[in-house]
Amino acid sequence: MNEPALLANYARAPVRFVSGDGCYLVDEEGRRYLDAIAGIAVCALGHAHPGIADAVAQQARRLVHASNLYYHEPSGELARELTRRSGFAHAFFCNSGTEANEAAIKLARKAAYRRGEHDRTKILAFSGGFHGRTLGALAATANPEYKVGFAPLPEGFAWAPFNDIAALDAAIDDRTAACLIEPVQGESGVHPASEEFLQELRRLCSARGALLIFDEVQCGMGRLGDLFAFQSVGVRPDLVTMAKALGNGLPIGAMLVDGTLSEALQPGDHGSTFGGSPVGAAAALAHLRIRDELDLDSHVRAVGAHTETRLIALAQTMAKYVEAPRGRGLLWGVPIRRPLQAGVIAEDLRELGILVGTGGGNTLRLAPPLIISTGEIDRLVDAIGAVIAGIGGRATK
Ligand SMILES: Cc1ncc(COP(=O)(O)O)c(C=O)c1O
Repeated sequence: MNEPALLANYARAPVRFVSGDGCYLVDEEGRRYLDAIAGIAVCALGHAHPGIADAVAQQARRLVHASNLYYHEPSGELARELTRRSGFAHAFFCNSGTEANEAAIKLARKAAYRRGEHDRTKILAFSGGFHGRTLGALAATANPEYKVGFAPLPEGFAWAPFNDIAALDAAIDDRTAACLIEPVQGESGVHPASEEFLQELRRLCSARGALLIFDEVQCGMGRLGDLFAFQSVGVRPDLVTMAKALGNGLPIGAMLVDGTLSEALQPGDHGSTFGGSPVGAAAALAHLRIRDELDLDSHVRAVGAHTETRLIALAQTMAKYVEAPRGRGLLWGVPIRRPLQAGVIAEDLRELGILVGTGGGNTLRLAPPLIISTGEIDRLVDAIGAVIAGIGGRATK
């Protein structure tokens, strides 16, 4: 399968999806797939949710775009909802995760600049972190593989080892504008930051005048069992970025800002033509309303605990091929021992009608729709076990 007119910058699997419903995607041959990656942690309420579809259709009939030269109802309402639920003071809207991080990086530097601290420009990020593909967010991303051939990247970025408390002291100094961290790393193969690490990071940022930015693009929006990841990990950042699941598939991202920082960006300092578009904001508002109706946080905690139990049992019974799972809520990494390859397991699962992702370090990545049931998790984990047993058996023959 090929689409020669599409730029070949993705390693796409040879399947063409035409529709979806709930936790399932349907390909052009009518085959149904249990989706345990949800468009990379996007479709929290599943595919083609009627409540989202109605909200989008109704908004599209009223007003699709007006620009940020003016106010419109959905973005104002969404800002009120997100600030009420988070306790942050203001929301800035954009279209993607990388843009949300760009906004946070720019705000952090401008805040220091406005205080007269013109040398406070360093953004400290962490090994294994992923923050997006635009040049600024890419500069913050630790993994050098993503950056090959794109130099020169913006300056002023540094990295400290993830989850290494002792290394923080030397890494955060009076030139650090902000520390940028994923509370649970996604792309690196799902690595949760330890509670003690986040607490010490918070303490040092406050003590040394650096801002703490949580990149919740992948781990936020309910995935850990609370709407915001910072609520699940119990450490409050100064800025938080989100995208992916916010619009349940409509492209919208956001940065939430603590009150003390709101002055940092003044008219003309930053912007986005489409940011917070009426249709994207309407989808996000419908998402928030529906997740309340479903009490999705309780559901994620219960199904997440079941997932953890099942994955630990899988790792124990298949210790030769599978290491202890890492994750929280409904974001899990299942590390695969070599010579087995996570990518091959994912392909075999797809053949069986089950979609999973992969992550760094030979890891299967599970980020299903948050509405997934325990029965569907059982089917998923059973299938992972069966595929690994099949490949492992062949490999050792
Ligand atoms: C933690 C994190 N930050 C930022 C991004 C970039 O988001 P986007 O692809 O919407 O630009 C991603 C995407 O995978 C992500 O996982």
